[in-house]
Amino acid sequence: MRFCSSLTLAGLASLATTSVLAQAPFFGAPQNLAQVTVGEEVVVSVFQGDTNSQFENVAIALGISQCFNGADSCSGAGGGLFDVFYTGPFNATGLVGANHFQNFTVTIPSFFEAGQFAQVTAALFALVGAEENPSLETTAVILEVV
Ligand SMILES: *[C@@H]1O[C@H](CO)[C@@H](O)[C@H](O)[C@H]1NC(C)=O
Ligand SMILES: *[C@@H]1O[C@H](CO)[C@@H](O)[C@H](O)[C@H]1NC(C)=O
Repeated sequence: MRFCSSLTLAGLASLATTSVLAQAPFFGAPQNLAQVTVGEEVVVSVFQGDTNSQFENVAIALGISQCFNGADSCSGAGGGLFDVFYTGPFNATGLVGANHFQNFTVTIPSFFEAGQFAQVTAALFALVGAEENPSLETTAVILEVV
């Protein structure tokens, strides 16, 4: 009984979290800490979870930045985009399960160096809810340059 009720609570908690951030973007690829090389074209899959809440995507911007002192020195999702490789509509027509995605391609800049880390950041602007509230959600993934 006890086990059941805590499961239910966990389920409710995750539902609540999902509905708040339902339109938030997340990376399906590359994996966090994936190894990349300078000059490599890396496919970046940006996902958006399925939701019953109402939202309208306006635009997305994607950038790549260098982290000079290890993965911990990356700025995180709140930092700047630095080298912007895409700005424009977010056309998430791809589908995996109930999650929509769009693929983008970034070329690892030639001035990045092996041994450094890099961060790919996405910033998605959407209008949310019946009141069309502006919402800017960011997410980041860290890559290891080898
Ligand atoms: C999108 O990229 C993933 C790898 O991240 C790949 O498996 C998939 O085939 C790509 N889909 C499309 C439609 O390009
Ligand atoms: C969105 O993607 C679909 C499928 O890839 C394509 O047919 C359509 O033209 C795209 N729309 C825009 C606005 O890029």
